[in-house]
Amino acid sequence: MNILSKDLLFAARCAERLYARKVEQDPWRLRFHLMPPVGWMNDPNGLSWYQGAYHVFFQYTPTNPEGGLKLWGHYRSKDLLDWEYLGPAIIPDCPRDCHGAYSGSAFVLEDTMHVFYTGNVKYQGNYDYIHNGRGSFVLHTESRGGVYFGEKECALDMEDYPEGYTCHIRDPKVWKDGNACYMILGARREDDRGGVLIYSSGDLKNWRLLREMTTENAFGYMWECPDLFALGGNTYLSCSPQGVEKEEYRFQNVYQSGWFRVEGDWKGECRLRDFTEWDLGFDFYAPQTFQDASGRRILIGWMGIPDADYRNPETARGWRHALTVPREITEKDGRLYQYPVKELESLRAKETRLENEKEVSVPEGVFDLEIHAPDKDFCEIHIGGELKFIYKNGMMELSFQGDSGAGRTVRRGRITELREIRVLCDTSAVEIYVNRGEAVFTTRYYPPAQNMALALRGCSGENILWNMRAIRLANKTQEGERDEII
Ligand code: FRU
Repeated sequence: MNILSKDLLFAARCAERLYARKVEQDPWRLRFHLMPPVGWMNDPNGLSWYQGAYHVFFQYTPTNPEGGLKLWGHYRSKDLLDWEYLGPAIIPDCPRDCHGAYSGSAFVLEDTMHVFYTGNVKYQGNYDYIHNGRGSFVLHTESRGGVYFGEKECALDMEDYPEGYTCHIRDPKVWKDGNACYMILGARREDDRGGVLIYSSGDLKNWRLLREMTTENAFGYMWECPDLFALGGNTYLSCSPQGVEKEEYRFQNVYQSGWFRVEGDWKGECRLRDFTEWDLGFDFYAPQTFQDASGRRILIGWMGIPDADYRNPETARGWRHALTVPREITEKDGRLYQYPVKELESLRAKETRLENEKEVSVPEGVFDLEIHAPDKDFCEIHIGGELKFIYKNGMMELSFQGDSGAGRTVRRGRITELREIRVLCDTSAVEIYVNRGEAVFTTRYYPPAQNMALALRGCSGENILWNMRAIRLANKTQEGERDEII
């Protein structure tokens, strides 16, 4: 810790205390999704299983719900239900990260958690900050215990990147395969094509460029937050491309997030196939995956997106954005599926059967709904009067009437057949899983009433509705440490 980290930590703590009450009193506060204690949240970072606990770090600006200087906030849980907030973990306090501790990953080796992240620096001058004027360094810091981090070392400097790239190279994800460790970085090339760089290392200190990877035809100008993993015998590359053109049923958001199947050997000859979006809703971006002790691959996404033309009215209440629930990723026949982790089912409280074409009112709009046998050609879900999800002959549509979408309008997608639907609704967040995660729609939603009307049409099979309990959240930063800081 230096004088800068101490003061930034103090500013974070002051903001957390100053806005805590306001956020706590907000009826739009989420009950079973992770959201910022106060202020702004974006990408999930450093997702990991370490020393018997799940660690979820996140891009965090406690001092301003509209965003600003990025720190890493930190949540920890043994069971994905009972969470502790542990305070800012990585603070931008050195010359190579002074304009933001940007996204990165946590890699566990023996008893140490290694964090690799992007140190963002914008030099003063007449620069465009794409081709010049920006430092994007890979910084490495270690922790025994996963809470306090040591000295930062520069793992990759600007001159370690190959020719032909802009200054937009960031978001390192590190993993081990055989005897070597690998790091993947998202990049924007000088020819305005997105891609990734993959480095390898035997000691986590010296990194050597292994390869570059992109699509045969240009697919956007920048790929953020890449993640490469094997599942069910295939390799997948997840990333968040920017600059992809809108289509009628795909790529409707300003930026995308999805996965390619990697055909061939990712270390050698290979091709990227079939980009599929992770989520077709309005609010999803920059997800990251990790493997837990049981071998599950779990994904958490940012329930938000940069540069969208719709609003987030919770900002006026002292906070903005959230994370999706943890989703287990499975693969079948070269395709990925996402579904809420099983643990969430233990939050289910009162269970009721929901009849087709009969409206009910759900207190505070906090529920889990399973529609087991929707009608084959048509079904409709109405939530809170203004949100409607329709399936009709292969077409899915999520739309808002009125202003409770805060500028969100309509999002569409296609599937070949409809088998089942699950809806998680959490005051101002809705996640809709179709066919056990073959397609997902995630959106924020700001209905004025606290009780939500819920009605189904074309759902003549069994529909089960549960009221949901909240996850438990303890703030472990309030006492003790404060004295040390002051
Ligand atoms: C994605 C992203 C990352 C970057 C971070 C900064 O939303 O732009 O590429 O590291 O956010 O907060």
